[in-house]
Amino acid sequence: MLDRYSLYSLLGHNTFGIDVKAAQFVEFDSEEELINIISSGIQKPVLTIGAGSNLLFMNDFKGTVLHSRIYGAEVIAESGNDVLLRVGSGMNWDNLIAYTVEMGWQGLENLSIIPGEVGASAVQNVGAYGVEAGDFIERVDAIALCDGSKRCFSKDECRYSYRNSIFKMEEKDKYVITYVTYRLRKKPEYVLDYANLRDLVAAKGALTPALLREVIKEVRSAKLPDVSVLGSAGSFFMNPVVSREHAAELAMQYPQMPQYDTADGRKKLSAAWLIDTCGWKGKKVGNVGVYKSQPLVIVNYGGATGKEILDFSMQIVASVKEKFGVTLVREVNVIE
Ligand code: EPU
Repeated sequence: MLDRYSLYSLLGHNTFGIDVKAAQFVEFDSEEELINIISSGIQKPVLTIGAGSNLLFMNDFKGTVLHSRIYGAEVIAESGNDVLLRVGSGMNWDNLIAYTVEMGWQGLENLSIIPGEVGASAVQNVGAYGVEAGDFIERVDAIALCDGSKRCFSKDECRYSYRNSIFKMEEKDKYVITYVTYRLRKKPEYVLDYANLRDLVAAKGALTPALLREVIKEVRSAKLPDVSVLGSAGSFFMNPVVSREHAAELAMQYPQMPQYDTADGRKKLSAAWLIDTCGWKGKKVGNVGVYKSQPLVIVNYGGATGKEILDFSMQIVASVKEKFGVTLVREVNVIE
């Protein structure tokens, strides 16, 4: 059933816990309902949200916030090696992983307990511990906001890269995702090369998708705040990528600075390390602070406004720029 509300509080719909209202808030349970909403005219601007785990609201939202309640996972093809699973965009991301692990379909375990929903995984290309959602996405079904028409995006059309996709570039705000189809493995190929993951897993016993999921849950919870307890949106910034020349200069000055090769021959730096080295870890200004065990995460200790959080983040950007000459780019989506 379609639910439409006016002047609706978004407090429970953004993990930063910002108290703003949407002029219109609409939840739909099927593609047909979504098409009906679009064809009956929709108050603009339109913002589609999942769990609101990567959003920072500055003000009340003057248009319509759309939220998918399309659930369910259906096997649409299967072979001896893999399975194609078509999943409703409103499904909770970690519930999906719990289900795939239970079914013995391998691939998504490294992305366990990332807050959010299936639709957003296909926009944001969520990633952790050496795996990205886009590695497993086969197809994305969406409805165009301009005319309610259906469109399928192939994996190649989605153009996945680090925390990026076509839905954050050319097609930004043009489509509402309704289903995401994942290709999962029946024959496991685990990714264990991130930090000391391999050793942590070996210490626990025989490797299975369920065991890997348990280890990831432990590693992640030790470093990142639980958004149901402390408001945050995970990593506030992306890990910056710099030229080899710039990276070499920085390495001379800061021999301990972590640097990783990228596919295009540049170097990726650790935003957490840069912020940490500028002395921000655990710092608090008013209601806002840098998380104690992962400085890439900005937290709302209660009652902070979007502006307070954004201003605080700008201070971090300025100090990293001054010390290292590196510009941090936000990962969180600021909604004006
Ligand atoms: N580090 C510090 N001080 C700290 C913590 C970390 O200097 O207090 C440095 C260390 O050098 C450490 C490095 O940061 O080796 C990497 O830390 P971590 O493993 O936590 O990874 P990250 O690069 O900081 C990324 C993702 C996270 C994801 C982790 C694990 C981005 C922007 N963030 O963080 O994603 O969980 O890897 O794979 O790429 C998110 O996107 O919201 C998110 C949490």
